[in-house]
Amino acid sequence: MKLIDLFRRKKSKEIDVDINTLEQGFERFKIDKKYNEQAFFSMINLYCKTNGFYLEDLHLRNKFNKNTFNYEDGLLGSFKKSDYNHINTILNTDGYYKFHNKLNKNTVSNLIDFANKSETIAVGIDNSNYRIYDFNNPISNSYLLSRNDLINNFDIQKLIMDPVFRNIAREYFDSEPIFDFPVLMVSPMFSIHPSDASAQTFHFDLDRVKWLKIFVYLSDVNKENGPHYYIKGSHLPGNKPKELLDRGYSRISDIDMMNFYDDSSLVEVTGEAGSVIVGDTKCWHKGSPVKEGCRYVLQLQYTANLFGGDIKKNIVTNPTEEFSQFVNKNKFFCSNIQLV
Ligand SMILES: [Fe+2]
Repeated sequence: MKLIDLFRRKKSKEIDVDINTLEQGFERFKIDKKYNEQAFFSMINLYCKTNGFYLEDLHLRNKFNKNTFNYEDGLLGSFKKSDYNHINTILNTDGYYKFHNKLNKNTVSNLIDFANKSETIAVGIDNSNYRIYDFNNPISNSYLLSRNDLINNFDIQKLIMDPVFRNIAREYFDSEPIFDFPVLMVSPMFSIHPSDASAQTFHFDLDRVKWLKIFVYLSDVNKENGPHYYIKGSHLPGNKPKELLDRGYSRISDIDMMNFYDDSSLVEVTGEAGSVIVGDTKCWHKGSPVKEGCRYVLQLQYTANLFGGDIKKNIVTNPTEEFSQFVNKNKFFCSNIQLV
């Protein structure tokens, strides 16, 4: 049975309003490119009410023509067609894939220095003022750098240009990808209680219709350093328990989550500094409180479509010559990046 037939069986009058609001908002976005809160909320409602089926169908109906595959080496080395197929198969079953190769040590230490010297917000404490914090005397479970600082960092610009990550997103979406945004989170040892604001309780992301995240561990992440956890296969339509989706877009405790999945579905993602993981964070996932050291994680998000949450463009004021040329040459991939 086709995906859409499965969805139609689930369709009820109750969700017609959300369908109309989303479909009209999605069409309007193609013209005005403006955030539409009602359409975005309808997208979230439909995700929960149809167990993901509606968004998968919306994605399949709105794919973009793909560019030809680029087999250049990336920062993690060279990848053949069979490697891409393997990664894509794992993403389509488990939802996450951990690369064998690591990001080079120089880039990792540059990014740690950059994070330590940058202004951040203390998540859940002061979400609007960026300032220099001392991570040795923390006041929050996590800190976030500003997107402007991240996009103007030369190492991050290099990562954005990486052809391998772009191929993986292209293959997974079966549509030409767009670079969405970078995130860098610093999580020192603070409270052992999981923080909702710092995404340390189970949730799924839902900024876009279809997306992928690249996670780069910039510090060693072992059991004690706040590893990322996910529930294998829970990104697939129909694979979340109705009882949990009925709560809407909310955080779920470990006890409630593990009532529905067996222990073998829960994956703990540890790795040395430089480890790279790609994942579909439609999967139930969470970080965890850091019990030792300080965790640094860089994230790069790729999307199949810019419709969704209210995410501002990445404004680049300090591009390398190479990045500037890349943005001008790859207009579609860089449509959420603006050179000024
Ligand atoms: Fe998340």
